[in-house]
Amino acid sequence: MTSPGYGINGIETVVYGVDDVALCTRYFVDFGLPLLEQSDSSAHFRLDEGSNVIIRHVTDPAIPKSSLAGTGAHEVIWGVRTREGMDRLLKGLAVDRNIRFDSDGTAHCLTDDGLAIGFRVFTKTPVVSSVDPVNSPGNINRVNQLRKWKVRARPKTIQHVVFHTPNFDESWAFYRDRLGFRLSDIQRTFGIFGRADGARDHHNIYFINANLPLPGMDGSYRFDHVNYGVDDVDECMIGANFMQRQGWPPSEWGLGRHRIASSIFMYLPAPTGGQAEYGADSDCLDDSWVPRSWNPMFGFFSFISNMKPFMMDAAPWEVDLVEGYTPAKTPLPPGHATQAANSDSKIAPPAPAAADPKFSG
Ligand SMILES: [Fe+2]
Repeated sequence: MTSPGYGINGIETVVYGVDDVALCTRYFVDFGLPLLEQSDSSAHFRLDEGSNVIIRHVTDPAIPKSSLAGTGAHEVIWGVRTREGMDRLLKGLAVDRNIRFDSDGTAHCLTDDGLAIGFRVFTKTPVVSSVDPVNSPGNINRVNQLRKWKVRARPKTIQHVVFHTPNFDESWAFYRDRLGFRLSDIQRTFGIFGRADGARDHHNIYFINANLPLPGMDGSYRFDHVNYGVDDVDECMIGANFMQRQGWPPSEWGLGRHRIASSIFMYLPAPTGGQAEYGADSDCLDDSWVPRSWNPMFGFFSFISNMKPFMMDAAPWEVDLVEGYTPAKTPLPPGHATQAANSDSKIAPPAPAAADPKFSG
């Protein structure tokens, strides 16, 4: 059984601490985030759903002290649907940590491993999008009709944030046990994908093993990327092409699709540190989802434009359901098999047993 949760409905604000505010502001303008306010010391972008991106210098006193090394997303403020849910959440957190409040009621604290997080009541603005009909052999949905020609990418949502962490099990446990997050998938030895209880995204947070032998990983708690939601694969590529024309470095991997979450990805290097991701066509989940445990490279991608040497070996097709999320097998009552074979039997089959999750995600 899943816990009732607190109504955390996603990422309300990402606060970046960076080396060069002006440069990072120009980057996100080109990336397609709508700029709301700008000064010499900060920039504020607001996406259509009402979520926010704040850029400040990493030494700005408004950047909370935390265990995060380097630049990047130094604080994630999670949205909570109701004040009641937020009060209940904070009551539980206040048992063993200090909580600081802004005058507008926003709460700030640290996770068990020292990451800065916050909470704010958040009423998401519904966003709309329309994707072009797709033609395939024998399946014609567009006749005498061109696809839309987009000029720029314009992300509408913030879908997830990713951190390198020295211990992804421990980092995840806090979100599961204290914030009511749900387990979405496990990428064996690589990390854990989790989603907020009030969100439908496949994941809102991914903790990746900081000790993997991958570029940029040194065992420290570091920012990796934020995923910004766009309509489709065309918008991912149009955005990437536009960024390159503005002089920003191109994607290392190019366009691809993860098997985990089925999502289209386009990661772009960012002057914030880490990367900024255009994301499209991800799976959406609710509490009926049964988490999978994936061979890490099999789950990583179904296709990718620029295969690196370590991607050349085709990964084995290994994916299993995580134990504890499906009904436990219940032994038949004594004599049931005999009676079931008798057409006159009036014995009803046993009711399915409730799930007995090992993971309370
Ligand atoms: Fe991502």
